[in-house]
Amino acid sequence: MNNIELINYAKKAMNNAYAPYSNFCVGAALLTDDGTVYTGCNIENSSFGATICAERTAAVKAVSEGHRRFTKIAIVSKAGGYTYPCGICRQVIVEFAEDKDIKIFIVKSEDDYIETTLDEILPGSFTKKDLEK
Ligand code: THU
Repeated sequence: MNNIELINYAKKAMNNAYAPYSNFCVGAALLTDDGTVYTGCNIENSSFGATICAERTAAVKAVSEGHRRFTKIAIVSKAGGYTYPCGICRQVIVEFAEDKDIKIFIVKSEDDYIETTLDEILPGSFTKKDLEK
């Protein structure tokens, strides 16, 4: 699975976003260590706190299907700019990124995306390793 293919999965998932309150549609696609792709979109709720982001939708789909190691994730929004994962999603991503080695693609368009890392966007993170200390 190359980066562009993953980005296209994220774009496709974005079309399923349910965002009647913010009109901010987001799509995510993550790749697991065995090459399986899980996609997600944001799903809002009239009780705003019940909203789930695209990244966590993809993550819960993967984990609930038995995939606990994520290697890449692409995130795209209809707003057209670069959309970074929110703090809660960063924390969920780090839980399933062994040694924080996941590649994160912040996508504006197929040929305009930023590749970043958890070290860059979630420095000093609290992980399961801290619980072992
Ligand atoms: N949202 C995501 O799905 N992912 C992000 O990375 C940022 C925010 C959603 C949540 C909410 O439905 C809308 O975007 C506005 O915050």
